[in-house]
Amino acid sequence: MSKKTIEDIAVSGKRVLVRCDFNVPLDGGTITDETRITAALPTIQYLLKNKARVILCSHLGRPKGEFKAEFSLAPVARRLTALLGQEVALAADVIGQSAQKLSASLKDGEVMLLENVRFHKEEEKNDEAFSKALASLADVYVNDAFGTAHRAHASTEGVAKFLPAVAGYLIGKELSVMGKALEDPIRPFVAILGGKKVSDKIGVINNLLEKVDSILIGGAMSYTFSAAQGGKIGKSLLEADKVELAASLIKKAQEKGVKLLLPVDTVCADAFSNDANISVHAAGQIPDDLEGLDIGPETIELFAAEIAKAKTIIWNGPMGVFEMPKFAVGTVGVAKAMAENSGAVTIIGGGDSAAAVEQLGFADKMSHISTGGGASLEFLEGIELPGVAALNNK
Ligand code: 3PG
Repeated sequence: MSKKTIEDIAVSGKRVLVRCDFNVPLDGGTITDETRITAALPTIQYLLKNKARVILCSHLGRPKGEFKAEFSLAPVARRLTALLGQEVALAADVIGQSAQKLSASLKDGEVMLLENVRFHKEEEKNDEAFSKALASLADVYVNDAFGTAHRAHASTEGVAKFLPAVAGYLIGKELSVMGKALEDPIRPFVAILGGKKVSDKIGVINNLLEKVDSILIGGAMSYTFSAAQGGKIGKSLLEADKVELAASLIKKAQEKGVKLLLPVDTVCADAFSNDANISVHAAGQIPDDLEGLDIGPETIELFAAEIAKAKTIIWNGPMGVFEMPKFAVGTVGVAKAMAENSGAVTIIGGGDSAAAVEQLGFADKMSHISTGGGASLEFLEGIELPGVAALNNK
């Protein structure tokens, strides 16, 4: 990475402001998935071992610029205390008296957490005065919030203008694994894209068509592609205004010599429910009263065969409505095929696909599961992430 990292600067005795992405799912006060917390530990532990005075900060949810107790980072402070085996004090505010007092009293090798930066509306506005106030708490800024690196906010971008600014280990790892896949992949390079909407994935498909050998498209967005080929899709999800675009992406794949595989069969249902009656139909021949909710068995075989040949695989977006067991078979099939190809670099874009892989028990079989949903999508689109761009060059 051409950006400076925590290993390029002196941190001992310095107050180091570390932006993490602790935007974890909560059920009441209970963290239901702590992946983003454990992913931040290597940077925090490195700084503590090297006697820095560590000031952590993050957003949690979307409290819209005001204090709301349910968006407090208190559960994260408690979990961090347990994981690090040392007290992580939580400031009662972000740039106020509590934050100032706690950060000034930190000793070498101690760590604290600021309250949710989104309790201030200035955070998302990337307000300069707020960025300066954050910066005034520290001597050095480290960005390790890969999941929020696509946001140009005060704590991810603005603050970097006022302090020496470097990347942490998580950002370094995410960029090097996904960057290598995009720039210098071991081939064959296969991308698997799913999810609901073509409109969410246009940028990714366009960029990946320049890079991959094959692209496999499943999920509800495949019905818009099927419609573009003149197929009958029944009551399946259709983005009518994206049919032409889907046709042009199919054409672009042909022109580039990229193999674009669409489902050949579809698991259809008579209701959007796990209790629905299901039947399998050839793609493009879905009866009028049914909707497609998963890829079918022949498609799983087709995709698995392509995945088995690959040396680099990137997957973003489920193949069906995997939250309902009846329609999780396609997503499980793809996850299994990736897990079985132990010779390949297997990368899971964040968000839904990461959740699917975790939920279905394949997480430890993948080379890399990104902690960024929107951020990994923008990275795969080839967009420079503002939270990374703002860091000091080597
Ligand atoms: C995420 O969960 O994708 C990140 O934490 C960013 O959150 P946001 O979409 O609310 O900016």
